[in-house]
Amino acid sequence: MINKDFLWGGAVAANQYEGAWDAGGKGISVTDVMTKGDVNTPRKITAGVLPNEEYPNHFGIDFYHHYKEEIKLFAEMGFKCFRLSIAWSRIFPHGDEEKPNEEGLAFYDNVFDECLKYGIQPVVTLSHFEMPYYLADHYGGWRDRRVIDFFLRYAKVCFERYHEKVKYWMTFNEINNLIDTDNPFNAWTGAGVLYKEDENPEQTMYQISHYQFVASSLAVQEAKKIDSKLQIGCMLHLGPLYPASCKPLDQIASLKAMDRRFFFSDVQIRGTYPSYTKKLWERKNIKLDITQEDLANLKKGTVDFLGFSYYKSTIAEYNAQADFLEKPNPYVSKSDWGWAIDPVGLRYILNVAYERYQKPLFIVENGFGAYDKLENGSVNDDYRINYLQSHVVQMLKAIELDGVDVIGYTPWAAIDIISASTGEIEKRYGFIYVNLDEVKQGTAGVYRKQSFEWYKNIIKTNGECLKDQVRVEK
Ligand code: BG6
Repeated sequence: MINKDFLWGGAVAANQYEGAWDAGGKGISVTDVMTKGDVNTPRKITAGVLPNEEYPNHFGIDFYHHYKEEIKLFAEMGFKCFRLSIAWSRIFPHGDEEKPNEEGLAFYDNVFDECLKYGIQPVVTLSHFEMPYYLADHYGGWRDRRVIDFFLRYAKVCFERYHEKVKYWMTFNEINNLIDTDNPFNAWTGAGVLYKEDENPEQTMYQISHYQFVASSLAVQEAKKIDSKLQIGCMLHLGPLYPASCKPLDQIASLKAMDRRFFFSDVQIRGTYPSYTKKLWERKNIKLDITQEDLANLKKGTVDFLGFSYYKSTIAEYNAQADFLEKPNPYVSKSDWGWAIDPVGLRYILNVAYERYQKPLFIVENGFGAYDKLENGSVNDDYRINYLQSHVVQMLKAIELDGVDVIGYTPWAAIDIISASTGEIEKRYGFIYVNLDEVKQGTAGVYRKQSFEWYKNIIKTNGECLKDQVRVEK
């Protein structure tokens, strides 16, 4: 039914699972100064690592010391690929050094070799919600143009070192989260930036995004020089913002809302700023540091594919002051964290994105965060199986019935890890349960959930086991 080379796998991010935050010469990263929160308590960003604060990313699930056991379990599930990120501060602890940290580079060699031993292809994000804290503290993060050079040096070192082991790369995870300037975590985890009270965050946001676009385009060019086989993608957080009603103004609201979401891939895939953004800058008198050389580079360094995460959908309602208001969709149910469950939205967004770009699409995150209960060495997570199965069916419909070019699917998360938004382990996504207390005692503390067997069968049959649900148009 689908291509035999389809990349089934699972995804994680270094800062959320590696732990070993100060081992092997690693520097502090921006997520190392984020405290633990929960569904009702936001995380705090502290000025450096302070005593008496709890920093869950410091420990993660200690993959750093247990990667062999965990990769073995991924192999048992039949993973064709494993999406992970490199911790920038393991390679350049401060970010502005001339020479990389060999111990950090060797760690990823070991991880990649372990994957390849089982025929698992690593898929790598260069910056997944982290950068060296030093760059945030001393340079103001991506406010500073010099960070482009630091990122490029880091990217180049990675491409040179790993190009024979890693074909698929992404530059910045969910780069389009930056657009929501109301949530301070987006600029912090995405760019090492804290907005100041007396600045226009929108202006700053467009400037830091521009520097990241340039950095990404230079990284693409560098990668192609090193090895023309490398495939470099951008990575967005995607989900439909459906029109709130069939009122014509709600259609416009939805269109505008989707443009905001796609602005980042419009630049990274088309290599030029969209006209709707240029008009917005004129209207709002936004002036940016953009050179002719930057614009030429954007054109030269467009990405090969669009990677994206899909979790939920919302709706857009027309509003005269704000263009649109984003609201919850009353027609779908929600997880315990209030995230809407909308499998059809995945087929919808696959179609929309493919029509917009005609580029290969890679679903690099999709999953269900839930409280799990370990009983008799397993977890009965039928709620997660239901979520994932309904999404896989919609993805297969997009491929089979709509002709969308999807190259892979890596659910979030391959294994339980620390939640990005809340810093909890209790918001679990994995196929493998991690008992953190046992990990702290020094063993791996991992258990196969029921979804583990379910996913193993999906991969084994290359999705064929769902064909009856896919071929029915409903
Ligand atoms: C995505 C991120 O936004 O969502 C991941 O790329 C994150 O890093 C995932 O973990 C799920 O979000 P959360 O907050 O539930 O962990």
